[in-house]
Amino acid sequence: MTTINVGLLGLGTVGSGVAKIMLEDANLLTQKLGYDIRLAKVCVRNLNSTRNFSPPAELLTQDANDIIGQPNIPLVIELMGGLEPARTLVLKALDAGQHVVTANKALLAIHGREIFQKAAETGRAVKFEAAVAGAIPVIRVLKEALTANRIQSVFGILNGTTNHILTRMTQDKMTFQAALGEAQEHGYAEADPTNDVEGFDAAHKLLILTALAYGVQPQLADIHVEGVTQLEPADIAAAAEFGYVIKLLATSALDPKSGLLEIRLHPTMLPANSLMAGVNGVMNAVAIRGHACGDIFLSGAGAGMMPTASAVMGDVIEASRDLQPAASPKVPALGWQNLQSWSVKPQDETQMAYFLRFTVIDKPGVLSAISGVLGRHDISLAQVIQKGHDKERGGVTLIILTHEAKEKNLLTSLREADELDCLTAPTRLIRVENRL
Ligand SMILES: NC(=O)c1ccc[n+]([C@@H]2O[C@H](COP(=O)([O-])OP(=O)(O)OC[C@H]3O[C@@H](n4cnc5c(N)ncnc54)[C@H](OP(=O)(O)O)[C@@H]3O)[C@@H](O)[C@H]2O)c1
Repeated sequence: MTTINVGLLGLGTVGSGVAKIMLEDANLLTQKLGYDIRLAKVCVRNLNSTRNFSPPAELLTQDANDIIGQPNIPLVIELMGGLEPARTLVLKALDAGQHVVTANKALLAIHGREIFQKAAETGRAVKFEAAVAGAIPVIRVLKEALTANRIQSVFGILNGTTNHILTRMTQDKMTFQAALGEAQEHGYAEADPTNDVEGFDAAHKLLILTALAYGVQPQLADIHVEGVTQLEPADIAAAAEFGYVIKLLATSALDPKSGLLEIRLHPTMLPANSLMAGVNGVMNAVAIRGHACGDIFLSGAGAGMMPTASAVMGDVIEASRDLQPAASPKVPALGWQNLQSWSVKPQDETQMAYFLRFTVIDKPGVLSAISGVLGRHDISLAQVIQKGHDKERGGVTLIILTHEAKEKNLLTSLREADELDCLTAPTRLIRVENRL
């Protein structure tokens, strides 16, 4: 029987899950595949670290060269994380003729073009199902099942940590800080949560989905990224009154009028009865609209040892099939080397409805002053609610839901409104997505 040797770089959360499946479920895999996939070597930084799962000590090494370029190891799994040495090792593996499976979204979002160019040159595969939305097979769906579609939009909840925090803020009326503290206690958030709560992790995944959906790969700096740190329970409560739920939503949508791409990540109000609004806790979800397939909604575990290992193993199995003698060669990965030219719609030109929460002094004429400023900039009001005194912010709360308006006009009007002497605190703005 054929045996495919696999080398694993990294034995942390995900690497441990992968090693556990490969060693504990080896017989099952052989039964299903008709050949063996064998964990040949595992590279770690520290041989003595405490681990979720420990393979036999003789499999461990601290020298990546025991895996990279080894002729008896045709397949390398990169689960170290970070940009270096992961980038160098992946490029070296491809140069040496090894296929690569990775879960490293930061690596692909930042160095994807270079890595996929190398894969094309060497005729090797780079597979990355686990890099976006954990166990959900969204990469395979976009790359294969929906190939015949012109993708019109991809929306996603792509970060379980922030979704958990927002769920607690929504369902249990917690503050952001309290919900974050609790998530850290339960291991849903890291000690330094910046990457998650400021939106960078989800933005990396958004860039990967955008490349798959449209063949274009903007840089992080080209897109609007806004995390959840500024959200207050009052925003969430007010959104609920209008029939909305706030989620950290990734958007990659083709504007049919301008032909430009809207790529952005920010807290977004979604209709409470939409499928996306019902995705709670650490779960992730992706909604795809294609011209032929219509609407597709995928949801599942977005991270964690075994869910992510499941996605990694799917890639390992797919790559191992290509290594069978009878397999016909496949086009490597995704053809990112042929990325088209692209244009991202400037955030200023975005046209959405907006939720605005003003804190104002309690006297006649305030509403007409604010609506006058908005009206002068072409912002029309859909709904207005005036609330009682806001002790924390020292004033009366005035909530306005606008009709669709151009973001540039909206921001200009808010700057002008800030000059009014009736405002007692900065105005809160949350964008509203009605397409879900
Ligand atoms: N955690 C998740 O749920 C999840 C979900 C989706 C995708 N991912 C992605 O999967 C990747 C791995 O994440 P993780 O959470 O498993 O990371 P992790 O727990 O921090 O594990 C990283 C592993 O890589 C090893 N390592 C790091 N630098 C090394 C170096 N220079 N030389 C040798 N070994 C090195 C570490 O060795 P030691 O153990 O000896 O320190 C550790 O075993 C990341 O790209 C992450 O973004 C993670």
